[in-house]
Amino acid sequence: MIVIRISVSLAANNVRDFLYGGTMKILIKGGKLVDFQNNCFIIRDILIDGKCIKKIDRNIRVQDDFKVIDAKDFYISPGFIDAHVHLREPGFEHKETIYSGTRACAKGGFTHVFSMPNTKPSPDSIENLNDLFSRINESAAIKVTPVASVTKGISGEKVVDLKNLSKENIIGFSDDGNPVNNIDYVYKTLLNSIDTRKPLITHSEDKSCFEVGAVNRGKVSEYYNVDGIPNEAEFNMIQRDVDILEQVGGHLHICHVSSKESIDIIRNAKLRGLNITCEVTPHHLSLTEDIVIEKGAMAKVNPPLKTKDDVERIIKGIQEGTVDMIATDHAPHEIESKNLPIDKASYGFSGAETAFSVAYTYLVKTRKINLIELFRLLSYNPSKVFNIEKEGIIKEGYFANLTLINLRKEYEVKSSEFVSKGKNTPYEGMKLNGKVIMTIYNGEIVFEEEK
Ligand code: NCD
Ligand code: ZN
Repeated sequence: MIVIRISVSLAANNVRDFLYGGTMKILIKGGKLVDFQNNCFIIRDILIDGKCIKKIDRNIRVQDDFKVIDAKDFYISPGFIDAHVHLREPGFEHKETIYSGTRACAKGGFTHVFSMPNTKPSPDSIENLNDLFSRINESAAIKVTPVASVTKGISGEKVVDLKNLSKENIIGFSDDGNPVNNIDYVYKTLLNSIDTRKPLITHSEDKSCFEVGAVNRGKVSEYYNVDGIPNEAEFNMIQRDVDILEQVGGHLHICHVSSKESIDIIRNAKLRGLNITCEVTPHHLSLTEDIVIEKGAMAKVNPPLKTKDDVERIIKGIQEGTVDMIATDHAPHEIESKNLPIDKASYGFSGAETAFSVAYTYLVKTRKINLIELFRLLSYNPSKVFNIEKEGIIKEGYFANLTLINLRKEYEVKSSEFVSKGKNTPYEGMKLNGKVIMTIYNGEIVFEEEK
Protein backbone atom coordinates (compact mmCIF):
# COMPACT_ATOMS: atom_id res chain seq x y z
CA MET A 1 0.00 0.00 0.00
CA ILE A 2 1.23 3.50 -0.80
CA VAL A 3 1.24 5.83 2.16
CA ILE A 4 0.98 9.50 1.31
CA ARG A 5 2.19 11.70 4.09
CA ILE A 6 1.97 15.45 4.18
CA SER A 7 3.41 17.18 7.20
CA VAL A 8 2.74 20.83 7.87
CA SER A 9 5.00 22.48 10.41
CA LEU A 10 3.47 25.15 12.59
CA ALA A 11 5.76 28.16 12.71
CA ALA A 12 8.54 27.87 15.29
CA ASN A 13 7.38 24.65 16.83
CA ASN A 14 7.27 20.99 16.17
CA VAL A 15 3.64 20.09 16.36
CA ARG A 16 2.67 18.62 13.05
CA ASP A 17 -0.50 17.79 11.29
CA PHE A 18 0.01 14.47 9.68
CA LEU A 19 -2.46 13.61 7.00
CA TYR A 20 -2.24 10.05 5.85
CA GLY A 21 -3.59 8.59 2.69
CA GLY A 22 -3.91 5.24 4.41
CA THR A 23 -3.22 3.65 7.74
CA MET A 24 -0.01 4.59 9.47
CA LYS A 25 1.97 1.65 10.73
CA ILE A 26 4.41 2.29 13.56
CA LEU A 27 6.84 0.09 15.45
CA ILE A 28 8.23 1.55 18.66
CA LYS A 29 11.33 -0.37 19.60
CA GLY A 30 12.76 -1.01 23.04
CA GLY A 31 10.97 1.64 25.12
CA LYS A 32 10.46 1.34 28.86
CA LEU A 33 6.70 0.78 29.11
CA VAL A 34 4.86 1.42 32.33
CA ASP A 35 3.03 -1.61 33.72
CA PHE A 36 0.62 -0.32 36.36
CA GLN A 37 -0.56 -3.77 37.37
CA ASN A 38 2.90 -5.01 38.33
CA ASN A 39 4.14 -1.57 39.36
CA CYS A 40 7.19 -1.64 37.12
CA PHE A 41 8.62 -0.72 33.75
CA ILE A 42 9.16 -3.39 31.12
CA ILE A 43 11.23 -3.14 27.96
CA ARG A 44 9.08 -4.11 24.97
CA ASP A 45 8.32 -3.24 21.35
CA ILE A 46 4.90 -1.82 20.50
CA LEU A 47 3.33 -2.46 17.12
CA ILE A 48 0.67 -0.02 15.99
CA ASP A 49 -1.50 -0.64 12.98
CA GLY A 50 -4.48 1.67 12.74
CA LYS A 51 -5.92 3.33 15.81
CA CYS A 52 -5.05 0.58 18.23
CA ILE A 53 -2.07 -1.23 19.68
CA LYS A 54 -1.82 -4.47 17.80
CA LYS A 55 1.01 -6.20 19.60
CA ILE A 56 3.35 -5.76 22.57
CA ASP A 57 6.30 -8.11 22.63
CA ARG A 58 10.05 -8.53 22.59
CA ASN A 59 11.87 -8.12 19.26
CA ILE A 60 8.93 -7.61 16.93
CA ARG A 61 9.98 -7.76 13.28
CA VAL A 62 8.15 -5.88 10.51
CA GLN A 63 8.22 -5.17 6.78
CA ASP A 64 9.74 -1.89 5.64
CA ASP A 65 6.38 -0.11 5.25
CA PHE A 66 6.50 0.61 9.00
CA LYS A 67 7.84 3.74 10.60
CA VAL A 68 10.31 2.46 13.19
CA ILE A 69 10.94 4.56 16.29
CA ASP A 70 14.00 3.76 18.37
CA ALA A 71 12.76 4.30 21.95
CA LYS A 72 15.48 2.65 23.98
CA ASP A 73 16.27 5.90 25.81
CA PHE A 74 12.66 6.71 26.56
CA TYR A 75 9.93 5.94 29.09
CA ILE A 76 6.46 5.35 27.68
CA SER A 77 3.20 6.21 29.42
CA PRO A 78 -0.34 5.73 28.19
CA GLY A 79 -1.32 9.06 26.59
CA PHE A 80 -1.96 11.61 29.30
CA ILE A 81 -5.59 12.54 30.04
CA ASP A 82 -6.23 16.10 31.21
CA ALA A 83 -9.48 16.55 33.10
CA HIS A 84 -9.35 20.34 33.02
CA VAL A 85 -8.47 22.52 30.02
CA HIS A 86 -9.87 25.80 28.78
CA LEU A 87 -9.84 25.72 24.98
CA ARG A 88 -11.78 29.03 24.85
CA GLU A 89 -13.65 28.25 21.62
CA PRO A 90 -16.30 29.40 20.88
CA GLY A 91 -16.19 32.98 22.04
CA PHE A 92 -12.65 33.69 23.16
CA GLU A 93 -10.59 32.71 20.14
CA HIS A 94 -8.13 35.52 20.83
CA LYS A 95 -7.03 33.53 23.90
CA GLU A 96 -6.99 30.03 22.38
CA THR A 97 -8.77 27.90 19.81
CA ILE A 98 -9.50 24.21 19.67
CA TYR A 99 -6.79 24.06 16.98
CA SER A 100 -4.04 25.79 18.97
CA GLY A 101 -5.09 24.43 22.37
CA THR A 102 -5.16 20.78 21.35
CA ARG A 103 -1.75 21.14 19.69
CA ALA A 104 -0.39 22.66 22.90
CA CYS A 105 -1.89 19.72 24.78
CA ALA A 106 -0.35 17.24 22.32
CA LYS A 107 3.04 18.87 22.97
CA GLY A 108 2.40 18.37 26.67
CA GLY A 109 1.86 14.63 26.11
CA PHE A 110 -1.93 14.70 26.32
CA THR A 111 -4.03 12.57 24.00
CA HIS A 112 -7.43 13.26 25.59
CA VAL A 113 -8.61 16.44 27.29
CA PHE A 114 -11.88 17.56 28.85
CA SER A 115 -12.85 21.04 27.70
CA MET A 116 -14.30 23.38 30.29
CA PRO A 117 -17.60 25.13 29.58
CA ASN A 118 -16.76 28.80 30.26
CA THR A 119 -17.05 29.63 26.59
CA LYS A 120 -19.55 31.85 24.74
CA PRO A 121 -22.00 30.30 24.27
CA SER A 122 -21.42 27.59 26.83
CA PRO A 123 -22.34 23.97 26.06
CA ASP A 124 -25.70 24.27 27.82
CA SER A 125 -28.01 22.85 25.12
CA ILE A 126 -27.95 20.07 22.54
CA GLU A 127 -27.61 22.73 19.85
CA ASN A 128 -24.56 24.38 21.43
CA LEU A 129 -23.06 21.01 22.17
CA ASN A 130 -23.49 19.90 18.56
CA ASP A 131 -21.77 23.07 17.40
CA LEU A 132 -18.89 22.30 19.76
CA PHE A 133 -18.67 18.69 18.53
CA SER A 134 -18.41 19.86 14.93
CA ARG A 135 -15.66 22.36 15.83
CA ILE A 136 -13.79 19.56 17.63
CA ASN A 137 -14.20 17.26 14.61
CA GLU A 138 -12.86 19.93 12.34
CA SER A 139 -9.79 21.08 14.20
CA ALA A 140 -8.77 19.03 17.25
CA ALA A 141 -5.41 17.23 17.09
CA ILE A 142 -6.35 14.89 19.95
CA LYS A 143 -9.53 13.67 21.62
CA VAL A 144 -11.63 16.36 23.28
CA THR A 145 -14.63 15.48 25.40
CA PRO A 146 -16.68 18.45 26.55
CA VAL A 147 -17.84 19.20 30.06
CA ALA A 148 -21.35 20.68 29.80
CA SER A 149 -22.39 23.58 31.96
CA VAL A 150 -24.66 23.15 34.98
CA THR A 151 -26.51 26.40 34.35
CA LYS A 152 -27.48 28.30 31.23
CA GLY A 153 -24.47 30.28 30.05
CA ILE A 154 -22.78 29.43 33.39
CA SER A 155 -24.90 32.30 34.71
CA GLY A 156 -25.86 30.40 37.84
CA GLU A 157 -29.47 31.11 36.98
CA LYS A 158 -31.25 28.30 35.24
CA VAL A 159 -30.21 24.68 35.39
CA VAL A 160 -29.65 22.94 32.03
CA ASP A 161 -31.60 19.90 30.84
CA LEU A 162 -29.37 17.48 32.73
CA LYS A 163 -31.14 14.33 31.63
CA ASN A 164 -31.05 15.07 27.92
CA LEU A 165 -27.50 16.41 27.87
CA SER A 166 -26.35 13.31 29.76
CA LYS A 167 -27.24 11.21 26.71
CA GLU A 168 -24.54 13.05 24.76
CA ASN A 169 -20.84 12.30 24.72
CA ILE A 170 -19.93 14.60 27.61
CA ILE A 171 -17.80 14.00 30.70
CA GLY A 172 -20.06 15.65 33.25
CA PHE A 173 -21.36 19.02 34.37
CA SER A 174 -19.53 22.07 35.70
CA ASP A 175 -19.82 25.85 35.80
CA ASP A 176 -16.03 26.04 36.12
CA GLY A 177 -14.72 29.53 36.40
CA ASN A 178 -17.73 29.97 38.69
CA PRO A 179 -19.07 28.01 41.64
CA VAL A 180 -22.59 26.60 41.65
CA ASN A 181 -24.16 28.63 44.42
CA ASN A 182 -27.66 27.21 44.08
CA ILE A 183 -27.95 24.21 46.42
CA ASP A 184 -30.89 22.82 44.48
CA TYR A 185 -28.75 22.64 41.31
CA VAL A 186 -25.99 20.83 43.18
CA TYR A 187 -28.62 18.41 44.47
CA LYS A 188 -30.14 17.88 41.00
CA THR A 189 -26.77 17.41 39.27
CA LEU A 190 -25.61 14.88 41.85
CA LEU A 191 -28.92 13.04 41.64
CA ASN A 192 -28.61 12.94 37.85
CA SER A 193 -25.09 11.51 38.13
CA ILE A 194 -26.31 8.35 39.91
CA ASP A 195 -27.75 6.74 36.79
CA THR A 196 -25.91 8.65 34.09
CA ARG A 197 -22.38 8.53 35.58
CA LYS A 198 -21.95 12.16 34.54
CA PRO A 199 -20.46 13.73 37.67
CA LEU A 200 -20.85 17.19 39.11
CA ILE A 201 -17.43 18.81 38.60
CA THR A 202 -16.98 21.78 40.89
CA HIS A 203 -15.00 24.97 41.00
CA SER A 204 -15.41 25.35 44.76
CA GLU A 205 -15.33 29.00 45.69
CA ASP A 206 -17.58 30.62 48.25
CA LYS A 207 -17.44 34.19 47.04
CA SER A 208 -19.12 35.47 50.20
CA CYS A 209 -15.75 34.91 51.95
CA PHE A 210 -14.20 37.94 50.23
CA GLU A 211 -15.09 41.02 48.21
CA VAL A 212 -12.81 41.29 45.20
CA GLY A 213 -10.32 38.49 45.59
CA ALA A 214 -7.17 38.49 43.45
CA VAL A 215 -4.54 36.68 45.57
CA ASN A 216 -4.16 34.54 48.68
CA ARG A 217 -5.30 36.29 51.86
CA GLY A 218 -2.39 37.06 54.17
CA LYS A 219 1.15 38.02 53.28
CA VAL A 220 0.47 38.57 49.56
CA SER A 221 -2.82 40.45 49.85
CA GLU A 222 -1.15 42.69 52.43
CA TYR A 223 1.87 43.22 50.20
CA TYR A 224 -0.33 44.39 47.32
CA ASN A 225 -2.92 45.98 49.60
CA VAL A 226 -5.75 44.15 47.85
CA ASP A 227 -8.57 41.94 49.04
CA GLY A 228 -7.40 38.37 49.59
CA ILE A 229 -9.12 35.02 49.06
CA PRO A 230 -8.98 32.92 52.26
CA ASN A 231 -8.77 29.11 52.37
CA GLU A 232 -12.37 29.08 53.66
CA ALA A 233 -13.60 30.20 50.25
CA GLU A 234 -12.59 26.81 48.91
CA PHE A 235 -13.09 24.43 51.79
CA ASN A 236 -16.46 25.87 52.95
CA MET A 237 -17.94 25.08 49.58
CA ILE A 238 -16.31 21.66 49.34
CA GLN A 239 -17.78 20.88 52.78
CA ARG A 240 -21.20 22.11 51.63
CA ASP A 241 -21.09 19.85 48.57
CA VAL A 242 -19.81 16.87 50.55
CA ASP A 243 -22.80 17.27 52.89
CA ILE A 244 -25.16 17.22 49.90
CA LEU A 245 -23.30 14.25 48.40
CA GLU A 246 -23.79 12.41 51.68
CA GLN A 247 -27.57 12.87 51.42
CA VAL A 248 -28.03 12.38 47.69
CA GLY A 249 -25.30 10.04 46.50
CA GLY A 250 -23.81 10.30 43.02
CA HIS A 251 -20.33 11.36 41.96
CA LEU A 252 -18.71 14.63 42.97
CA HIS A 253 -15.40 15.66 41.38
CA ILE A 254 -13.55 18.65 42.84
CA CYS A 255 -11.41 20.78 40.51
CA HIS A 256 -8.01 22.29 41.27
CA VAL A 257 -7.85 21.62 45.03
CA SER A 258 -5.43 24.09 46.59
CA SER A 259 -5.81 24.30 50.36
CA LYS A 260 -4.80 21.94 53.14
CA GLU A 261 -8.21 21.90 54.79
CA SER A 262 -9.83 20.86 51.50
CA ILE A 263 -7.56 17.82 51.27
CA ASP A 264 -8.59 16.81 54.81
CA ILE A 265 -12.29 17.16 53.99
CA ILE A 266 -11.95 15.09 50.81
CA ARG A 267 -9.91 12.43 52.61
CA ASN A 268 -12.54 12.11 55.32
CA ALA A 269 -15.33 11.92 52.77
CA LYS A 270 -13.48 9.15 50.94
CA LEU A 271 -12.96 7.28 54.19
CA ARG A 272 -16.72 7.44 54.75
CA GLY A 273 -17.17 5.75 51.38
CA LEU A 274 -18.53 8.70 49.41
CA ASN A 275 -17.94 8.82 45.66
CA ILE A 276 -15.78 11.92 45.69
CA THR A 277 -12.73 12.44 43.48
CA CYS A 278 -10.41 15.35 42.97
CA GLU A 279 -7.63 16.84 40.90
CA VAL A 280 -4.69 19.08 41.71
CA THR A 281 -2.76 21.25 39.28
CA PRO A 282 1.00 21.25 38.61
CA HIS A 283 1.16 24.84 39.89
CA HIS A 284 -0.52 24.20 43.23
CA LEU A 285 1.88 21.36 43.99
CA SER A 286 5.00 23.28 42.94
CA LEU A 287 4.59 26.97 43.76
CA THR A 288 3.76 28.98 46.86
CA GLU A 289 2.28 32.46 47.16
CA ASP A 290 5.82 33.87 47.37
CA ILE A 291 6.11 33.77 43.61
CA VAL A 292 3.17 36.18 43.34
CA ILE A 293 5.32 38.80 45.05
CA GLU A 294 8.16 38.06 42.66
CA LYS A 295 6.19 37.77 39.41
CA GLY A 296 3.03 39.79 40.01
CA ALA A 297 -0.06 39.12 37.93
CA MET A 298 1.77 36.52 35.84
CA ALA A 299 1.46 34.32 38.95
CA LYS A 300 -2.21 35.18 39.53
CA VAL A 301 -4.50 32.18 39.30
CA ASN A 302 -7.78 30.97 40.71
CA PRO A 303 -7.67 29.37 43.22
CA PRO A 304 -4.69 31.47 44.28
CA LEU A 305 -1.25 30.03 45.01
CA LYS A 306 -1.08 29.34 48.71
CA THR A 307 1.38 28.73 51.55
CA LYS A 308 4.12 26.13 51.98
CA ASP A 309 1.83 24.26 54.42
CA ASP A 310 -0.85 23.98 51.76
CA VAL A 311 1.62 22.76 49.14
CA GLU A 312 2.99 20.15 51.55
CA ARG A 313 -0.51 18.91 52.39
CA ILE A 314 -1.34 18.62 48.69
CA ILE A 315 1.76 16.53 48.10
CA LYS A 316 0.90 14.36 51.09
CA GLY A 317 -2.61 14.09 49.60
CA ILE A 318 -1.03 12.72 46.45
CA GLN A 319 1.11 10.26 48.42
CA GLU A 320 -1.78 8.98 50.56
CA GLY A 321 -4.11 8.63 47.55
CA THR A 322 -6.58 11.39 48.42
CA VAL A 323 -5.68 13.14 45.18
CA ASP A 324 -6.88 11.15 42.19
CA MET A 325 -5.20 12.97 39.33
CA ILE A 326 -3.13 15.85 38.10
CA ALA A 327 -5.06 18.17 35.76
CA THR A 328 -3.50 21.25 34.22
CA ASP A 329 -6.30 23.86 34.42
CA HIS A 330 -4.71 25.11 31.20
CA ALA A 331 -6.09 28.68 31.18
CA PRO A 332 -4.57 30.64 28.29
CA HIS A 333 -5.02 34.42 28.18
CA GLU A 334 -3.90 37.21 25.88
CA ILE A 335 -0.85 38.83 27.42
CA GLU A 336 -2.54 42.26 27.65
CA SER A 337 -4.98 40.88 30.20
CA LYS A 338 -2.08 39.71 32.40
CA ASN A 339 -0.11 42.96 32.10
CA LEU A 340 -2.52 44.76 34.39
CA PRO A 341 -2.52 45.68 38.10
CA ILE A 342 -2.84 42.56 40.25
CA ASP A 343 -6.51 43.15 41.12
CA LYS A 344 -7.48 43.70 37.46
CA ALA A 345 -5.46 41.03 35.63
CA SER A 346 -7.08 37.78 34.55
CA TYR A 347 -6.65 34.59 36.52
CA GLY A 348 -4.87 31.59 35.05
CA PHE A 349 -1.84 29.96 33.47
CA SER A 350 -1.11 28.43 30.11
CA GLY A 351 -0.16 25.09 31.61
CA ALA A 352 -0.47 22.27 29.11
CA GLU A 353 3.08 22.43 27.78
CA THR A 354 4.87 22.53 31.13
CA ALA A 355 2.64 20.14 33.11
CA PHE A 356 4.67 16.95 32.89
CA SER A 357 8.03 18.65 33.45
CA VAL A 358 6.72 20.64 36.42
CA ALA A 359 5.23 17.55 38.04
CA TYR A 360 8.33 15.47 37.30
CA THR A 361 10.71 18.15 38.61
CA TYR A 362 8.78 18.84 41.82
CA LEU A 363 7.43 15.37 42.64
CA VAL A 364 9.65 12.69 41.14
CA LYS A 365 13.09 14.34 41.12
CA THR A 366 12.48 15.28 44.76
CA ARG A 367 11.51 11.65 45.47
CA LYS A 368 8.05 12.52 46.77
CA ILE A 369 6.54 9.95 44.39
CA ASN A 370 7.99 7.69 41.70
CA LEU A 371 7.57 7.94 37.94
CA ILE A 372 5.01 5.10 37.85
CA GLU A 373 2.83 7.05 40.28
CA LEU A 374 3.15 10.20 38.19
CA PHE A 375 2.12 8.33 35.04
CA ARG A 376 -0.81 6.88 36.98
CA LEU A 377 -1.97 10.36 38.04
CA LEU A 378 -1.77 11.55 34.44
CA SER A 379 -3.37 8.63 32.63
CA TYR A 380 -4.69 5.55 34.44
CA ASN A 381 -6.51 7.37 37.24
CA PRO A 382 -8.43 9.86 35.07
CA SER A 383 -9.44 6.99 32.75
CA LYS A 384 -10.84 5.06 35.72
CA VAL A 385 -12.53 8.00 37.46
CA PHE A 386 -14.32 9.10 34.29
CA ASN A 387 -15.01 5.62 32.87
CA ILE A 388 -13.00 6.09 29.71
CA GLU A 389 -12.68 2.89 27.79
CA LYS A 390 -9.54 1.58 26.08
CA GLU A 391 -7.33 4.38 27.37
CA GLY A 392 -5.07 4.77 30.42
CA ILE A 393 -3.20 1.47 30.02
CA ILE A 394 -0.66 0.35 27.41
CA LYS A 395 -2.37 -2.80 26.23
CA GLU A 396 -3.02 -4.77 23.07
CA GLY A 397 -6.41 -3.78 21.63
CA TYR A 398 -6.39 -0.43 23.48
CA PHE A 399 -6.12 2.88 21.62
CA ALA A 400 -2.59 3.62 20.45
CA ASN A 401 -2.34 6.70 22.65
CA LEU A 402 1.22 6.95 23.92
CA THR A 403 3.48 9.55 25.47
CA LEU A 404 7.24 9.15 25.13
CA ILE A 405 9.44 10.84 27.72
CA ASN A 406 13.10 11.72 27.88
CA LEU A 407 13.97 12.03 31.56
CA ARG A 408 17.50 13.21 30.93
CA LYS A 409 16.41 16.40 29.24
CA GLU A 410 16.75 19.64 31.21
CA TYR A 411 15.44 22.83 29.64
CA GLU A 412 14.48 26.40 30.35
CA VAL A 413 10.83 27.43 30.00
CA LYS A 414 10.39 29.99 27.24
CA SER A 415 6.80 31.04 26.66
CA SER A 416 7.81 32.34 23.22
CA GLU A 417 8.18 28.66 22.25
CA PHE A 418 4.67 27.74 23.44
CA VAL A 419 2.31 26.38 20.83
CA SER A 420 -0.60 27.69 22.87
CA LYS A 421 -1.75 31.21 22.09
CA GLY A 422 -1.50 31.83 25.83
CA LYS A 423 2.03 32.84 26.82
CA ASN A 424 0.98 33.39 30.45
CA THR A 425 3.20 31.22 32.61
CA PRO A 426 4.72 31.71 36.04
CA TYR A 427 7.55 29.29 35.10
CA GLU A 428 9.19 31.62 32.57
CA GLY A 429 12.97 31.27 32.74
CA MET A 430 12.84 28.34 35.17
CA LYS A 431 14.81 25.16 34.52
CA LEU A 432 12.72 22.00 34.42
CA ASN A 433 13.63 18.35 34.05
CA GLY A 434 12.07 15.62 31.96
CA LYS A 435 10.43 16.31 28.62
CA VAL A 436 7.73 14.87 26.42
CA ILE A 437 9.48 14.03 23.16
CA MET A 438 6.68 12.35 21.24
CA THR A 439 2.92 12.00 21.50
CA ILE A 440 0.97 9.40 19.56
CA TYR A 441 -2.80 9.70 19.35
CA ASN A 442 -4.97 7.00 17.76
CA GLY A 443 -1.88 5.63 16.04
CA GLU A 444 -0.71 8.98 14.64
CA ILE A 445 2.26 11.05 15.70
CA VAL A 446 0.67 14.34 16.77
CA PHE A 447 3.79 15.78 18.36
CA GLU A 448 7.45 15.11 17.83
CA GLU A 449 10.29 17.04 19.42
CA GLU A 450 12.83 18.32 16.91
CA LYS A 451 16.07 16.34 17.06
C1 NCD B 1 -9.76 29.74 34.65
C2 NCD B 1 -10.04 30.47 33.35
O1 NCD B 1 -9.25 31.38 33.00
O2 NCD B 1 -10.99 30.13 32.66
N1 NCD B 1 -8.84 30.52 35.42
C3 NCD B 1 -8.09 30.10 36.45
O3 NCD B 1 -7.38 30.92 37.04
N2 NCD B 1 -8.11 28.87 36.85
C4 NCD B 1 -11.05 29.47 35.36
C5 NCD B 1 -11.01 28.32 36.32
O4 NCD B 1 -10.50 27.22 36.02
O5 NCD B 1 -11.55 28.46 37.41
ZN1 ZN C 1 -11.98 26.67 38.17
